Amino acid sequence: MNVTVFGTGYVGLVQGAILADVGHHVVCVDVDASKVERLIQGQIPIYEPGLEPLVRENHAAGRLEFTTDAEAGVKHGQVQFIAVGTPPDEDGSADLKYVLAVAQTIAEHMQCDQIIIDKSTVPVGTADKVKAKVAEVLAKRGRTDLGFDVVSNPEFLKEGSAVADCQKPDRIIIGTQDAATIEVMRELYAPFNRNHDKIIVMDVRSAELTKYAANCMLATKISFMNEMANLAERLGADIEAVRQGIGSDPRIGYHFIYPGVGYGGSCFPKDVQALIRTAGDIDFDAKVLKAVEARNQEQKTTLFAKILRHFDGQLDGKTFAVWGLAFKPNTDDMREAPSRVLMEALWQAGAKVQAYDPEAMEETQRIYGSRDGLTLCGTKEAALKGADALVIVTEWQSFRAPDFDLIKSQLSQATLFDGRNMFQPARMRNKGFTYYSVGRHITSA
Ligand SMILES: NC(=O)c1ccc[n+]([C@@H]2O[C@H](COP(=O)([O-])OP(=O)(O)OC[C@H]3O[C@@H](n4cnc5c(N)ncnc54)[C@H](O)[C@@H]3O)[C@@H](O)[C@H]2O)c1
Repeated sequence: MNVTVFGTGYVGLVQGAILADVGHHVVCVDVDASKVERLIQGQIPIYEPGLEPLVRENHAAGRLEFTTDAEAGVKHGQVQFIAVGTPPDEDGSADLKYVLAVAQTIAEHMQCDQIIIDKSTVPVGTADKVKAKVAEVLAKRGRTDLGFDVVSNPEFLKEGSAVADCQKPDRIIIGTQDAATIEVMRELYAPFNRNHDKIIVMDVRSAELTKYAANCMLATKISFMNEMANLAERLGADIEAVRQGIGSDPRIGYHFIYPGVGYGGSCFPKDVQALIRTAGDIDFDAKVLKAVEARNQEQKTTLFAKILRHFDGQLDGKTFAVWGLAFKPNTDDMREAPSRVLMEALWQAGAKVQAYDPEAMEETQRIYGSRDGLTLCGTKEAALKGADALVIVTEWQSFRAPDFDLIKSQLSQATLFDGRNMFQPARMRNKGFTYYSVGRHITSA
């Protein structure tokens, strides 16, 4: 099938690549000319395991093309994906200007009936807005003879395993009631739907809400666990024992109940805020979501509070080794990352940061440049040199079994602040560390 994808970010690029890989002919359109040029050269602008060979091979085979030429893109596709960003507006609602701009572009250039697929995460009612925009432009063009449907087909990939998630989706949500569109969508996704039927067809509004409900449920699990961790710390309990104690209940399960330093990334924070806003627009007070959001904001400050307390409020002139900058492992995405809240608080208090991340160094450089108080280090060991303490913010695999003797020898004090509960407090105490973690009363030495 000929497929066009607008937007070559985490979603559009991965989706385009995996559709090309099963044999569809995909044209990816982006307004960012330098990104398109890099993609044509085989350079992948984001870090995502497995993506680079997939893009290169399918591009070389002619099944995956990149262009800024929207007109050619629209003409190519039998279906048109919208996979552009929906960043938060000032009031927290999802900003639809990119989505509606693509809708306008499609309508300006379409020459035959089209299926427009909304892959971006968009508030309930957006498909209606896209429909209205396309109809308006077609009317202006005098082409009301052209038919189209707008389908909601939200994306559930996780950054860090986006390729695998798209190749083996848990479910494929298709929001439309048009039988012909459903048939085309089934054909498009047939290569990913062989093991058992993963396609769930529903009305368009339910599909739009499904995406928000999924992210908000996951964010709720995280904030709930962080709340329990804060309680455990104060009550003399160990949240890791509690986590296993509740995870063993199949109704709860072990997924997404790790306490930590708050969720970040491009999706959970903005999607929770957007749904709160959507609810507000219809005079509904989304009490649970507001609490989830508030707990998360506060949780991002907890590591700094522990550091401040340990150093008796005196951080001026201190240096901290920070391991892990990306908002989670296996990505270079720093959007809303807890590391940013921590580093900015440390700088504010007069401290310096020696930072290391396996993949997010370039992104950190892009965000902070050569900011005073920040040294970007080429290895995790280099970040330790002469620092007063080590702070772990992101649980990269390569941090799981570090050389603790080396860490001790490089730090001026053997103090470790662990935002992800990577180690056993008793073992750390035996190794001579003052060790702080999340939700474990038996923390420091
Ligand atoms: N990143 C994720 O993990 C993830 C997961 C599921 C859903 N989503 C949702 O998918 C959508 C896209 O997210 P993303 O992370 O891929 O965004 P992104 O910011 O990484 O990429 C968006 C791309 O769209 C391009 N673009 C903007 N306007 C355009 C236009 N008019 N024509 C063509 N291209 C245009 C931008 O240049 C950019 O390359 C968002 O709604 C997001 O919430 C993201």
